[in-house]
Amino acid sequence: MGNIQVLSFEVANLIAAGEVVDRPASAIKEMMENAIDAGARHITVEIQSGGVSLMRVTDDGCGMSAEDLPMAIRRHATSKIRDAADLDGIITLGFRGEALAAISSVSDMRIMSKRREDDVGSMLEVRGGTLLGVSEFGCGNGTTVIVEHLFANVPARRKFLKRDATEAMAVGANVERVALSHPEIAVRFISDGVLKLDTAGDGQLKSAVYAVYGRDFAARLIPLAGEFEGVEISGFIGRSDNVRANRNGQSFFINHRYVKSRTAQAALEQAFVSYLPAEKYPVCVMNIGLNPARVDVNVHPAKLEVKFSNEKPVFEAIYYTVRQALEQDTGRPALKTEALKPTFAKPSVRLSDATAPIETERQETLRQRQVTIEQAAPVSGGRTSADPKPPQERITAEEYISRYVTGGAGGSAGRSAGEGRPVPPQAPILPASAAPQAASLPAEPLPVPPDDMPVPPPPEEPPAWSDGRDVSPDESASPPAPEPQEEPAPQIPPDAVPHTEPDSDPAADLTAVSPPYRIVGEVFFSYVIVEQGERMLLIDKHAAHERIIFEQLRANLRRRDYAVDSQLMLLPVEVMLMSDEVGMIESYRKQLEGIGFTFTCLRNTVRVDALPAGIETSAVADMFATFAAQLTEGTGDPKLTRDTVFEKALFQASCKAAIKAGRNYSPEQTAYVVDQLMRLPDVTFCPHGRPVAMEIKKRTLDHQFERC
Ligand SMILES: Nc1ncnc2c1ncn2[C@@H]1O[C@H](COP(=O)(O)OP(=O)(O)O)[C@@H](O)[C@H]1O
Ligand SMILES: [Mg+2]
Repeated sequence: MGNIQVLSFEVANLIAAGEVVDRPASAIKEMMENAIDAGARHITVEIQSGGVSLMRVTDDGCGMSAEDLPMAIRRHATSKIRDAADLDGIITLGFRGEALAAISSVSDMRIMSKRREDDVGSMLEVRGGTLLGVSEFGCGNGTTVIVEHLFANVPARRKFLKRDATEAMAVGANVERVALSHPEIAVRFISDGVLKLDTAGDGQLKSAVYAVYGRDFAARLIPLAGEFEGVEISGFIGRSDNVRANRNGQSFFINHRYVKSRTAQAALEQAFVSYLPAEKYPVCVMNIGLNPARVDVNVHPAKLEVKFSNEKPVFEAIYYTVRQALEQDTGRPALKTEALKPTFAKPSVRLSDATAPIETERQETLRQRQVTIEQAAPVSGGRTSADPKPPQERITAEEYISRYVTGGAGGSAGRSAGEGRPVPPQAPILPASAAPQAASLPAEPLPVPPDDMPVPPPPEEPPAWSDGRDVSPDESASPPAPEPQEEPAPQIPPDAVPHTEPDSDPAADLTAVSPPYRIVGEVFFSYVIVEQGERMLLIDKHAAHERIIFEQLRANLRRRDYAVDSQLMLLPVEVMLMSDEVGMIESYRKQLEGIGFTFTCLRNTVRVDALPAGIETSAVADMFATFAAQLTEGTGDPKLTRDTVFEKALFQASCKAAIKAGRNYSPEQTAYVVDQLMRLPDVTFCPHGRPVAMEIKKRTLDHQFERC
């Protein structure tokens, strides 16, 4: 006998099941889609223990006859298509005839169903893929599918399931998508006996959005309505004060089917260029309506990915509809990007001009940027600004698709590091008043000086100092030349106050006493020069503050005496998040309370009542948004422990609370940061590897100047 054999029916089914059903959430998605295809107006989803022990989906759709019930659980058995030609224009959500076969082969399933025209309903029972029988059953019109003991017969798959709370969150997210894509259906979701979602089913998308995301979110939306070459766009986008730190708030539906589409995402984000800071993502609930023949949903078993016969009209329909909605909403004129493109033409300098002020590239860029700021509507909501990014770029749909969607040459060129975000935007720079205050520090950043203040040109080249041996870290690792925000503020005059014994500090890690040092001054509003013994330190003030905050908060976390310094706020800060992000914050409650926060989790909001000592209230919203984003991202990685995931998130969140480079702070603020930093055992690096301070030995300088 040869080596190759056809797999048994059971094994083949188990393999196929893995593709469609990998966790309770995917089973729920399939069962809800069946209910929608059956014309249901009410769908109720109930789960227990994240869906692993029980899932029940009840609908009032068309139901099935006793004769059809055993067919429903057969592979490749469907009532939705008949032949290959039907694949070209699918209008139902299901069509593969695989879902019930897959789910029933890895669980214990019962289906109770009754058609309107029948007097009595029927029930089918399957256990681990084996059909036990079909019997008469008294039930109302419609269908109820009960799934118990998911993956009981496939331990390998069960092992991959996450904690019940995480699985329940994933189910919740899928139920929410169905509710958003079908506002005409009343959707209820009950998890472990608690009603989590209850939509009106009144056909109004806004009511569904309200039910899913809450009042604040629903109040900050701009409606969408547009049509381009037969592609219809409808739904909502968030205003620029309704943004997220990741893409979790973006839901795209094609013909009311939830999909992940790079084209749609890219078009949305490109339309938001200049309306949002670089590290923020727009939110949307968007339906893309087009002839089913123009889109192939048969790309992936889970039907999440789609293929457009032509991406361009889809991109353009989204881009123009969103852009128009934004422009109308803010009432600002369309940006004339041509006029804003920096020219970078260097004026030729003749000898006779040598004493005249030279119009440098830097000044040109700043001036251009100022024009952009004036034209761009300020982003409300007091978000912090990003470091200035290269000037805004407007590109055509073709360019965009080839660069970012189909992964053409230069695909990574404009993406911001790490995130893969496909938009290379110019971050609109917020007025200095939006800047968060320095943690622990009393004073606001200093007011910016008048326009005619001369701009210090940045170093064109790294300084050619030393042989590199004594400079740590080396040049290549040093941060790029700083760019002061909008306008430069007056430099802090060289400060000759000697610092000796620092005051005592609450954080365990920061109590050390450093040898005396002297702050010499600050350059580019970013780097503080410190002299200490036989060495000089160039300290990145933002990185230093970030590290101090991180060390303090981490020290809080390690305290076992629960005596963490926490400050109660006069008014709680409400942070709007996605419901699954709120769930994630809740699941890290112990750690977040450990560092000094006190908070209450509501459906789409975290209400923060107290925060760690030393953190400014203005940083709380950004910190929680960062925690939510980072924890959600990190938790999916099985290699990382929860502690590691939290520490990484804590580091990112510390960044949000730190003073910013390129901005002017009072000498006291700067002195505070240096003082705290100098107490740390090793000041040159932060724990995540970013340089904080660069050390130059006196003898290196002496050597450079040929003194020895
Ligand atoms: N809730 C339901 N109401 C009515 N019919 C259903 C329901 N769920 C499943 N069915 C029937 O069972 C068939 C198989 O379902 P499924 O395995 O999900 O495949 P598909 O949805 O791809 O056709 C469907 O084609 C449909 O006829
Ligand atoms: Mg189906």
